[in-house]
Amino acid sequence: MTLAGRSLVTIDDLNNGEILGLFSLADAMAADLGAQYGLCRGKVMASLFFEPSTRTRLSFEAAMHRLGGSVITASDVGASSLAKGESIADTARIVGSYADIIVIRHPWEGAARVVADYAGIPVINAGDGGHQHPTQTLCDLYTLFKERNAIKGLKIALWGDLKYGRTTHSLIFALARFGADILFCPSPGLEVPQHVVDKLITEYGGEVEHPAASPQSDAESVFPVDAIYTTPSSPHQLAMMPDISLQLELREGVDALYVTRPQKERFSATEKDGAGKAGYPVVDKKLLRGRAFRETLVMHPLPRVDELAYDVDADPRSMYFKQAARGVPVRMALLALLLGVKDAAIPRVDSPAPPDYPVYRHDITPVCPNASCVSAQATERKYLRPEFKIVKTQPLTLRCVYCEHGFEPKYVASTDWHEGKLDTKKYHDADSHWARTIRPENLICFNTEAEAQQHGFKPSHYTGGHH
Ligand code: NCD
Repeated sequence: MTLAGRSLVTIDDLNNGEILGLFSLADAMAADLGAQYGLCRGKVMASLFFEPSTRTRLSFEAAMHRLGGSVITASDVGASSLAKGESIADTARIVGSYADIIVIRHPWEGAARVVADYAGIPVINAGDGGHQHPTQTLCDLYTLFKERNAIKGLKIALWGDLKYGRTTHSLIFALARFGADILFCPSPGLEVPQHVVDKLITEYGGEVEHPAASPQSDAESVFPVDAIYTTPSSPHQLAMMPDISLQLELREGVDALYVTRPQKERFSATEKDGAGKAGYPVVDKKLLRGRAFRETLVMHPLPRVDELAYDVDADPRSMYFKQAARGVPVRMALLALLLGVKDAAIPRVDSPAPPDYPVYRHDITPVCPNASCVSAQATERKYLRPEFKIVKTQPLTLRCVYCEHGFEPKYVASTDWHEGKLDTKKYHDADSHWARTIRPENLICFNTEAEAQQHGFKPSHYTGGHH
């Protein structure tokens, strides 16, 4: 089957079968890297990195060169037109007319989605702020398959900055889809964002439990488990007794420990003094002596700072240099598939499809409250209309299609606003009974009363202030 013309913006853009098909092609390419030259002859890859990168950019460029294609680049934001205030959409249109495929890294969450919407050629997200980094996830999954043959039933611990670590966000969804259990071990204050947990539960099934307290005795006490995700296919009954189960889980051992560095460049001012400094967990030789880690693969997307000691580099359990090296054949396979110079042999495997949520897309629209979202930036707001999926009605919850942050708007109205009297436009509390009767296609949302009034809406009896 062909993947020609497709983009990879989030890990949801490839289903499980497609990922496995890509890995077979990566295996074939890894077996003889030098023999792939010429596959992409005449093709041009644009490499747009507006954030620092070593591995991702160089492995993409190496991959394209090994396929015999060529690379054009705009690596320094200061040297490109974005610095002159050009919008992402315009940059995308222009580059789309010069190249055959775009690889983009950008600090704004959802930037790669905008590029994919406007470029007219396949786009690969090489990291968009704290949102996702799907090709790193491909390298991570590939390593797990190589080392353990399957992902179903594995127990994977995610360690460190789970709040801003974009590699962990795309990895979480992929692991859940392949049927792994996940232990969340964040540095205090850097827990997994609620919108990631919500998506995990509603779209991938399974449960997230917070153990009441970490186990106190023996080597496992260093392991600060904050939450556990159990897949629907798991035989465990975690929901019954999370504390006791946690001890058992740890005694059985962890299959992989995925370590991440503190993403300081994305910290808020208070996090710079607090969460980042206090108690960032360190993985070292001593920790790996614990029973739970006897056969654990130690993984890291790199670069490391202080969270992973050099004394574990020589340990056979250490996988991070292999993960990085495998980036080349994995990215070669991806480029070849999206450029349509290779077809994928896609095995038939289960892959839950994302639900078909109603979409909120209206001239009157709240702004995404995530300040790092591409749709909230001055240069992009001139042309981008915010767009949300209505992922829950009680409480009413919208998810931004760009950055995927979720929020609960406070006030609602209906485009069908006459309520029997054609001259009234009224808004209501989002949690009032009346609000629930508005059909998705008629829904208008506001974050504040002022916003509603600006658009000429008046408070109804169903707004909290008893107007
Ligand atoms: C990661 C990234 O950029 O998100 N690096 C990478 O691509 N291998 C991880 C990080 O920067 O910590």
